[in-house]
Amino acid sequence: MTRDRGFEHPKEPAAVSGQEQRVGPEAPAVAFEDVSLAFDDHVVLRGVTFRVRVGRLTIVMGASGAGKSVILKLILGLLKPDSGVIRINGERIDDMTEVEMMRVRDDIGMLFQESALFDSLTVADNVGYKLYEETDMPADQVRARIEEVLGFIGLEEYIDRMPSELSGGQRRRVAIARAMAARPRLLLLDDPITGLDPITAKTVDAEILKLRDLEHITPILVTHQLPDAFYVATHEVQRQNGRLAIVPAGGRKSEDTEFIMLRDGQIYFVGQAEELLASTDPYLKAYLSGWFPPLVP
Ligand SMILES: Nc1ncnc2c1ncn2[C@@H]1O[C@H](COP(=O)(O)OP(=O)(O)OP(=O)(O)O)[C@@H](O)[C@H]1O
Ligand SMILES: [Mg+2]
Repeated sequence: MTRDRGFEHPKEPAAVSGQEQRVGPEAPAVAFEDVSLAFDDHVVLRGVTFRVRVGRLTIVMGASGAGKSVILKLILGLLKPDSGVIRINGERIDDMTEVEMMRVRDDIGMLFQESALFDSLTVADNVGYKLYEETDMPADQVRARIEEVLGFIGLEEYIDRMPSELSGGQRRRVAIARAMAARPRLLLLDDPITGLDPITAKTVDAEILKLRDLEHITPILVTHQLPDAFYVATHEVQRQNGRLAIVPAGGRKSEDTEFIMLRDGQIYFVGQAEELLASTDPYLKAYLSGWFPPLVP
C-alpha cells in the first residue's frame, strides 16, 4: 500500500494554508503544499505536499534523479517552484526576493551533495565562514565553536590545513562541520554519509542525533545509506550520569523520525521505520531488499 498523508501528524491541526497559517514556534519547520517543478519538459516534482515538524528528523529517500536534492534547493530558495507554496517556520518563501531569502537562509545549514568547500580558505575559515561573515561573534568565540564542531567530527588536528590536503571523506566531514557551526534551526544534509568509512559514518549518525535531541535542531537527511538511516531512526541521545549515551528510542521519541520516499515526482510513502520495514508494497520491498535481504524475504 502506498500512502501519502503529507507528513500530517494526527494530533496536529490540519491545513497549512492561507490565513490559517501560523507563524511562530508551533509552525512546521518546513511545509510544501502542492509543489510542482519542471526543467523544460522534464517534470521533477508534481504536486508534492509534506510537512516537517520542528525537532523531528526527516529522512528523504528515492532513486537517483528522484528529486531529493531539488527539494533541498527549493527549501533554500536556490530554486523556485513552478506552482505551489513553500513555507519555512510558517513564513512563505517561494515568492521571496533574493534579499529576503538571505535572511531566511541565516537559519538554515546546508551540506551540499558535492561538499563544495572554499579551496582557498583553511579548514578553520571554511567552518567559521558564516560566523565570521554574518555574525558579530567575537573571534575567540568563533574559534572555540570551530574547534568544537571539528571535535564532533574528529578533525581537530586538521584545523589549519587547506582543503586540497584532505581526503574526500575528510572534506565531507569539514563540510558537515561547516553546515552545523552556526547552530541553524534547520539543517539540510544531502547524502552526508556516502564516501565515509563505517566508523566515521557512525560518528556522523551520532552527531545528527545529538543535534536533534540536545540542540533541538530540525535535520532533514537525504541518504541512500539505509542502514545508517534506520540506525538514526531508531535511536536517541540521552544524558546518563553526566555522559551522553546513544540508546534505542522508545516511547514518544521513536516517533521523532519520519521517512519520506519520492517516486515519479510524488511522495510515495511517508511513515516511521517500522511501517517502512513492514510495508508489503512491491516497490518499497524491492528498494529495501537490496540493503536488508534478511529482513525483507
Ligand atoms: N538545474 C537543473 N537543470 C535541469 N535539470 C535539473 C537541474 N537540477 C536537477 N535537475 C534534474 O532534476 C532531477 C532530480 O535531480 P536531483 O538532483 O534532485 O536528484 P536526486 O534525487 O538528488 O538524485 P541523486 O540521488 O542522484 O543525488 C534529475 O533528473 C536532474 O537531472
Ligand atoms: Mg541528489
